[in-house]
Amino acid sequence: ASKARTAYVCSECGADYSKWQGQCGECGAWNTLSEFVVEPAAKAGAGGVAASRRSSWAGRADAPAVTALKDVSHSEESRVSTGIGEFDRVLGGGLVHGAVVLVGGDPGIGKSTLLLQAITRMAQTLPGLYVTGEESLSQVAGRASRLGLPLDGVHALAETGVERILEHASRMKPALIVADSVQTLWTEQLAAAPGSVSQVRESAARLVRYAKETGTAVFLVGHVTKEGGIAGPRVLEHMVDAVLYFEGESGSRFRVLRAFKNRFGAVNELGVFAMSDKGLREVPNPSAIFLSGSRSPQPGSCVMVTREGTRPLLVEVQALVDSSPLSNPRRVAVGMEQNRLAMLLAVLHRHGGISVGDQDVFVNVVGGIRVQETAVDLPLLLAVLSSLRDQPLAEQTVAFGEVGLSGEIRPVPNGEDRLKEAATHGFKRAIVPKGNAPRGGKIGEMEVIAVERLSEALEAA
Ligand code: TYD
Ligand code: MG
Repeated sequence: ASKARTAYVCSECGADYSKWQGQCGECGAWNTLSEFVVEPAAKAGAGGVAASRRSSWAGRADAPAVTALKDVSHSEESRVSTGIGEFDRVLGGGLVHGAVVLVGGDPGIGKSTLLLQAITRMAQTLPGLYVTGEESLSQVAGRASRLGLPLDGVHALAETGVERILEHASRMKPALIVADSVQTLWTEQLAAAPGSVSQVRESAARLVRYAKETGTAVFLVGHVTKEGGIAGPRVLEHMVDAVLYFEGESGSRFRVLRAFKNRFGAVNELGVFAMSDKGLREVPNPSAIFLSGSRSPQPGSCVMVTREGTRPLLVEVQALVDSSPLSNPRRVAVGMEQNRLAMLLAVLHRHGGISVGDQDVFVNVVGGIRVQETAVDLPLLLAVLSSLRDQPLAEQTVAFGEVGLSGEIRPVPNGEDRLKEAATHGFKRAIVPKGNAPRGGKIGEMEVIAVERLSEALEAA
């Protein structure tokens, strides 16, 4: 087994085949297999080493013993602050040494700016290497000085070849490397074109290996493709310790950093930033920025209290219900799951007696936020009802709660936190699941209306 062989790897799920085929047998995706050169095991240090180690251990006195987990010594991962509180929060309390973090997002969303800000601030304690394959060094320096960032301690390299990047890194020994972007990287080991899935995967794999061997932290920047994945997507997600997505609407100056996977922290933690001419500014108390700003209530709008990670967040859910010219009316959801919308509309019909079968229904969560929890159900249906009737909800009303298929309103986690947040922001009325309502029916000045059935909720609204 000393000759390199060719393998075909699915870019969606990472399944491995010896022959090309049109459809991946594992995940069923079409045209996702691309060619890889697999190095002989001994050289790549993969299976071969493990196998020989296994046999030599057999029967030896120093064979690794089984240990009670409580006796295993461990230290808390040592973390270092990025100098940006909201960034630390999403990372799970700072950057872990030797962690590899993929930061994905649309082109132009602000990934380079964020990482340049972080690496220059961290340079006070961690020598950093900023590798750019997208901009020239003078562009990077120009941006840093425009943003007023301190430049000592950061080295920059305009290079896309992984071998050369690692050569520089082993000489300079940075504690942090930013590779912007992973799509521009390529390795001499593969004949495939830079940017191809195999190049992206193999280049990233080399950086991951380097990070693990040396304890260097690595940020990989990845552009998101139209399909919403990072090019060479799922494969990269498996290789790295954390995947963060940087999101926001192009018209809005707010940007949200979300942990999608994190070996060192909670997922769904949100970091909120505002863009400015001096770069990204933190929004440490983002609770109310996702309200549309119009103070007088509009038809088709309902404010909900969602929870992102560890903090409550007030966001506005909007619905537009309009008679449809189509025999198959549209259901379009932005910022929440489309299938859930269809399901909730069925519940509204069946248990609320309200039909929108001949109406187009559009829903949107204001501010480019994605709500991924079921607490959106009730506010969504209230917004739909309000749009259908063309009547705004009562002023200063919030809602949250899951709606079950039999029309029951189910409690959601951390109800009290959510209610307190709403009360703090001056809301006067909350429509919530009975299981989440406090005994006295009030939180501060806010009246809490507890509902058990969808019909009660619709009446209360
Ligand atoms: P950039 O960081 O280059 O985006 P990405 O690396 O994700 O493609 O940002 C895009 C542009 O926006 C760039 O010209 C700088 C500008 N920008 C600001 O002026 N202020 C900001 O706070 C941010 C984030 C970006
Ligand atoms: Mg960039």
